[in-house]
Amino acid sequence: MDLFSQIEEPEREELRALRKELEEQNYKYYVLNAPTMSDREFDEKMHRLQDLEAMFPDMFDPKSPTQHVGSDLAESRKSKDKSGKTFQTVKHKYPMLSLANSYSREEIEEWVRKLPQGVEIVCELKYDGLSISLWYEHGVLVRALTRGDGQQGDDVIDNIKTIPSIPWRIERNDIPDFFELRGEVLLPWERFEVLNKEREEQEEPLFANPRNAASGTLKLQDPREVARRGLDAYLYYMLGDHLPGTTHYERLETAKQWGFHISDAIKVCKNVDEVMAYIAYWDTERKNLPVATDGIVLKVNNLAQQEELGFTAKTPRWAIAYKFPAEKQLTLLKEITYQVGRTGVVTPVANLEPVQLSGTIVQRATLHNEDFIKSLDIRPGDRVWVEKGGEIIPKIVGRADRNDEMSATLSLNDEMMYSFPDVCPECGAKLVRVEGEAAWRCPNEAGCPPQIKGKIEHFVSRKAMNIDGLGEETIDMFYQNGLLKNIADIYDLKAEDIAAQERLGEKSAQNILAGIEASKNVPWSRVLFALGIRMVGETTAKKIARVYNSIDTLQWATAEQLCAIEDVGPQIAENIVKYFEDLRNLEILERLRQAGLQFEGEASPFTGNEGVLAGQSIVISGTFSHHSRDEYKAMIEANGGKNVGSVSKKTSFILAGENMGPEKRKKAEDLGIRLMTEDEFLEMIK
Ligand code: IVH
Repeated sequence: MDLFSQIEEPEREELRALRKELEEQNYKYYVLNAPTMSDREFDEKMHRLQDLEAMFPDMFDPKSPTQHVGSDLAESRKSKDKSGKTFQTVKHKYPMLSLANSYSREEIEEWVRKLPQGVEIVCELKYDGLSISLWYEHGVLVRALTRGDGQQGDDVIDNIKTIPSIPWRIERNDIPDFFELRGEVLLPWERFEVLNKEREEQEEPLFANPRNAASGTLKLQDPREVARRGLDAYLYYMLGDHLPGTTHYERLETAKQWGFHISDAIKVCKNVDEVMAYIAYWDTERKNLPVATDGIVLKVNNLAQQEELGFTAKTPRWAIAYKFPAEKQLTLLKEITYQVGRTGVVTPVANLEPVQLSGTIVQRATLHNEDFIKSLDIRPGDRVWVEKGGEIIPKIVGRADRNDEMSATLSLNDEMMYSFPDVCPECGAKLVRVEGEAAWRCPNEAGCPPQIKGKIEHFVSRKAMNIDGLGEETIDMFYQNGLLKNIADIYDLKAEDIAAQERLGEKSAQNILAGIEASKNVPWSRVLFALGIRMVGETTAKKIARVYNSIDTLQWATAEQLCAIEDVGPQIAENIVKYFEDLRNLEILERLRQAGLQFEGEASPFTGNEGVLAGQSIVISGTFSHHSRDEYKAMIEANGGKNVGSVSKKTSFILAGENMGPEKRKKAEDLGIRLMTEDEFLEMIK
């Protein structure tokens, strides 16, 4: 090594490290929405990297963070695949098999009998999520494959990288060049409940359980949304050619030391009694875990013995699952009551003799709809099965046979057959059942209290107008006291009226009014969502708002025209048309318009192919007097240009301010690239 390379080396190292660090930060900032570095620190590091890259032109890399704009990251990742499919399908290195199931001590004993004498068995929890296979090459996470068909899976690495407990890189020198870790991706109970609550608010279909929610989440094309939902993962199986350890347990311990998320609930057992004790303990204790489990997994500990036992076509012989019995309880159905939702759907609710289920006491459960009740012939006085499975809301899943005594009291004749009420239990309006739907609805949208309150709750909710301080109880109180009868009344609220309410004072009044004032800046797409038009959820509202830039254009759209919008089918189109046909809605809309809500969208942003700078790569250098660097960057983008960090022969021109870096200036001169002053630039884009 000559003297120069010795001096250069640490700086080249620094350059590489900075690229990695900034690349990760870009991802965390733009994709995950969770930066771990201040903007200032980021900018400083970016400048340092630009300087280093200028010092070592031979290290030019088009993939460097200096060469692409961070905010394009997620989009450019997506657009890579022209077919529209974003996930790459990749063959598994080792097939991803499933496990044979068992349900009793006898079945476990039978499995153990086929194993070598005195074998050690590792007991683990069986996590109820989706299996994932993580590939690490030279310590770097390079792939994250779903099980797929067992032979090949989808690479969902961008989504997997949103899981904080999964390392992107292992910085150790005692790891093999390649290893694979398998585990389960899960949506913790808490996150599942939040997600379903949001979906309920937006009238999107609920996920039946955390596993379905995790599965839906992992398939999303938007890692930002994946990150927001908050997946987690537990790893339970390490594979590879040159791995340390002779037992499964040792391997998991090693993986834990390398920084992987391995459950603490792992136990080496010497006989079936110990296994059964583990099962008994976790069958109760699992109810306190943050994630769903549906059984335990038993694995032969010794790896040589595992190899000897091998696999059948579908499952390993060295492992078996034991499934916990489903969480169901039998209890008395005391009464059926009815709940009316914001859209008028009337849901039958079972009022039960309280019963202990999955760690909580359950006394109400859904009976779904009229058809369900009739098909099971359920009546008050029956003993019914209630299940809390994965769902937040417990549900009735069956009925016990009626014994003679009960049959006598129930006098099972047709007159006693259950019948759904024909009027709304809340407002008395005659219920309607829409053709093809299982639900009965109350049509009295403007006069039925739960519908009125539900619409206001939806309007103020976080993803709609986001008005703080107006919670369910406050809305109920305002409604009872005549302050709120519809969403437009919100904008007529006066400080003195609010402050005069029970539990509220001056301060709450100011907060609420500030929230209401701020809502006037909420963009048009969210206002449209907030109106609560049936089946127009957040995403649909966005898509509609993109095509219909204002309420005035939307108002006159025909159902046929609306159907041309992505995601809008005949049902949604009809709901929109009907909404605008209702004079009461038009009156409310007029009041909201007077209040100053955004009924018009911003002009659609440039896509990058338009504008005077289309196709141009521009480097900004130096300091400016009319605008900040960031403002110039935004102008470049808004005019279709691309900001790049360092000068190359592809650079179209340099927007040059005062004190431009000498290296950049020299490079520009060498390559014959134009230096443009800020005045010239502003003139050009005028
Ligand atoms: S081991 C070759 N361990 O259960 C055996 N699987 O029903 C590899 N699962 O596909 C699997 N917790 O998705 C193993 N502690 C655990 C597990 C576990 C959950 C899942 C896994 C597997 C499925 C089989």
